[in-house]
Amino acid sequence: MTTTLCRTVVLISGSGTNLQALIDGAARQELPIDLVGVISNRPGVAGIERAQKADIPAEVIDHTQFESREAFDEVLREAIQAYAPDLVVLAGYMRIMTPALVGAFAGKMLNIHPSLLPKYPGLHTHRRALENQDTHHGSSVHLVTEELDGGPVIAQSVIKIDADDTEVTLADKTKKAEHTLYPEVVKWFANGQLSFVQGTVILDGRSLASPIQLTEDIDIA
Ligand code: GAR
Repeated sequence: MTTTLCRTVVLISGSGTNLQALIDGAARQELPIDLVGVISNRPGVAGIERAQKADIPAEVIDHTQFESREAFDEVLREAIQAYAPDLVVLAGYMRIMTPALVGAFAGKMLNIHPSLLPKYPGLHTHRRALENQDTHHGSSVHLVTEELDGGPVIAQSVIKIDADDTEVTLADKTKKAEHTLYPEVVKWFANGQLSFVQGTVILDGRSLASPIQLTEDIDIA
């Protein structure tokens, strides 16, 4: 029996620990994905080395070399399309995308964002959770739409904020939980369990009323 693997392109801007979680999951054959390409908009980042080490084609398209967001996104779109992906995974990709780029991969582009969306779209999410004295924090995996961090949320990892947490410790804990969350959602997509109909998430044939919460080993009051 031949299994068709989900052709997956990963976009990064930095350390690529979420990319690594996908590389490891695929290597352990827990994820039915073929990581066909990694693209970074920043040169010299650790994520590129992670891809090269795993023999995944990796390239840098440096956004600072383009005159406009539109010009950069046009080249990025072509680079992604050259891999003929079934799925595009944003893993710490830190550029706002044009509608043309988002539209080119409608229904098959996922992002992970370090907050319990709809709380804290944008930057400095850990700081904002601490400043607001939230009791819990986490990350969300969502479908990418034209609205920044605004597409339908599929699943979230939830962590407890401790009294002695700082922005750094909270970022660490949040990221650690992402390494379970993101592969899980990617697996659902690659298995064909996940789809989107008019802004609604369909998982295993049922529309999700609210995001799946992954809270394994996490102490929730
Ligand atoms: C992750 O925590 C991810 O949630 C965040 O960047 C980090 C990337 O880490 N993404 C965003 O803030 C997107 N708005 P990584 O490069 O080690 O995977």
